Amino acid sequence: MKLVLLGPPGAGKGTQAAMLVERFAIPQISTGDMLRAAVREQTAMGIKAKEYMDAGGLVPDEVVIGIVRERLQLKDCKDGFILDGFPRTVPQADALQQTLADLGKDLDAVISLQVDIEALVERLTGRRSCADCGKGYHIKFDPPTTADICDACSGKLIQRDDDQEATIRNRMAVYHEQTAPLEDYYQQAKLLKSVDGMADISVVQEQILGILQAD
Ligand code: AP5
Ligand code: MG
Ligand code: ZN
Repeated sequence: MKLVLLGPPGAGKGTQAAMLVERFAIPQISTGDMLRAAVREQTAMGIKAKEYMDAGGLVPDEVVIGIVRERLQLKDCKDGFILDGFPRTVPQADALQQTLADLGKDLDAVISLQVDIEALVERLTGRRSCADCGKGYHIKFDPPTTADICDACSGKLIQRDDDQEATIRNRMAVYHEQTAPLEDYYQQAKLLKSVDGMADISVVQEQILGILQAD
């Protein structure tokens, strides 16, 4: 299964992708997670990318396209993958199509998570993730058993640098300008499936599974 999860910051792409990974044993390819790893490791690319990420802007297309192109060629993608946060611009979507064509593959679906803007801000300001294993939480909607401690590994829960309100506003604006046009792009390609992302996490997952079964 070859999927793209599309949606604004905080829509639930990472949350839903992690659940799909468990069920289907295919990798989640999150460009945001890969870029944050490069920032932590202080690679040359990570140091440059951090400037864009902290401002809530997009990292240049050629950088992310290169990362995804390499990632899709790894063996674990042979039975499918879930792209989370890529593509985010029309040139990225074109590059994805080209890369998949080169690999003799095709997307099965692009799932677009629809969430109201006020809900997005609440989700992002309340989001926490484990510093050790990366597992995601929300202080209100998906809290850990013990405050600030990861259920899976007892690691400390932290907040993302770009989850500050001013940065969140920029990320939203960038989404509307540069990423929202991909809805039309994938509608025209007859791949777009919209899901009500306002529902509870498990209900959103059920909707996605329903779409995948019908495909
Ligand atoms: P990225 O990491 O991709 O961030 P994003 O797109 O802004 O999305 P988020 O990760 O913030 O949200 P999500 O949809 O994954 O929501 P989540 O599941 O965590 O990108 C970060 C930055 O990297 C970008 O700004 C850019 O600079 C750069 N970048 C990345 N990819 C790039 C690309 N392709 N090109 C250029 N630059 C790129 O959920 C959010 C919270 O809500 C969680 O706490 C969760 O528990 C909770 N939640 C989830 N679902 C529900 C629900 N149904 N009900 C209630 N709460 C819920
Ligand atoms: Mg995410
Ligand atoms: Zn953990």
